[in-house]
Amino acid sequence: MLQRFQKELSRYLGVPETNLALFNNGTLALELGYYAMGLSGGDVITTPFTFVATSHALKRIGANPVFADVDPEAMCLSPEAAEKLITPRTKAIVPVHVYGNVCDVEGFERLSEKYGVKIIYDAAHAFGIFNHGIHGTHGKGVEESRKSIGACGDMSMFSFHPTKLYHSCEGGLLVFKDEKVQEKLFELRNFAIHGELSCTDVGSNAKMNELQALMGLECLKKIDELLDYRQKIYDTYAEVFAGCEEVILIPHSQNKAYVPVLFKDFATRERVYKELKEKCNVFSRRYFYPLLTDFAPYSYAKGTCPVAETLASRVLTLPTYYRLQIEDVKAIAENVMEIVG
Ligand SMILES: Cc1ncc(COP(=O)(O)O)c(C=O)c1O
Repeated sequence: MLQRFQKELSRYLGVPETNLALFNNGTLALELGYYAMGLSGGDVITTPFTFVATSHALKRIGANPVFADVDPEAMCLSPEAAEKLITPRTKAIVPVHVYGNVCDVEGFERLSEKYGVKIIYDAAHAFGIFNHGIHGTHGKGVEESRKSIGACGDMSMFSFHPTKLYHSCEGGLLVFKDEKVQEKLFELRNFAIHGELSCTDVGSNAKMNELQALMGLECLKKIDELLDYRQKIYDTYAEVFAGCEEVILIPHSQNKAYVPVLFKDFATRERVYKELKEKCNVFSRRYFYPLLTDFAPYSYAKGTCPVAETLASRVLTLPTYYRLQIEDVKAIAENVMEIVG
């Protein structure tokens, strides 16, 4: 099942099978990917506006996350802000295609060429996004419009957690430029046991199992339907919120994996979150709040990313999932409108 899944993903993503590796979840995929790319002991510039796993995985391999601010529109790491923090200790930059909003991949490509740093995307939210002027070896010979966003940079990680638009119960996928990395990753995900008599490194147990692969294969058959339905949900929210200045729907997601909205201030966002839950039985998420730099392991960088801090205090992601009915989307959107008055 795992081998079949790998083949199908290669076909779907337009990336050779030699440039993919599957794992039991996205966090371990990131951890082993960072490790295989040699980031241990170095500084890595990343965004605080993400899920904790992006930087936990860095910390766990002994790399030092350095936080740069995000672009206020797409909410992704800003290449300009990242560039200001590059030093001789910087080994890589880890931008996140947050909510399926695509990062400035050309900007990061320039930084990679200028400073020789690796670019590793946390693409946990970006499955189903194609065609971004992609280059490099992983995607060679594939029609431009069929190349996955995962073919950007040196490496990208997709999460197949059930909260994502596409899933394999749990799972993670690394897509990488240098096919030599594959053998290393295959070893690392299996304790770094090499043959019967040797163990070459400090590996982990991060193998995807057969049931996960089977679920992934089944869901892949429905991927176009899943993506279309997310778009329909997004469009329904957009219709209800059209012209309302109190609820700003973020339009940048290319796969509509999330429906993030911004409110005018923290107090309004908190009120909407609370009343949706308590009065309407609707569970939205303050995703990403608190900001990473508010959490104990990263508090050394608290206050250094003001744009991300403001976004975290105003954002709410609204429900979106395959079984959510369109009339319920309308009702949720109307609830939000009523709460903001
Ligand atoms: C941005 C981001 N990175 C990494 C992860 C970790 O992925 P996983 O849950 O598959 O371990 C997640 C989500 O869950 C995420 O949202």
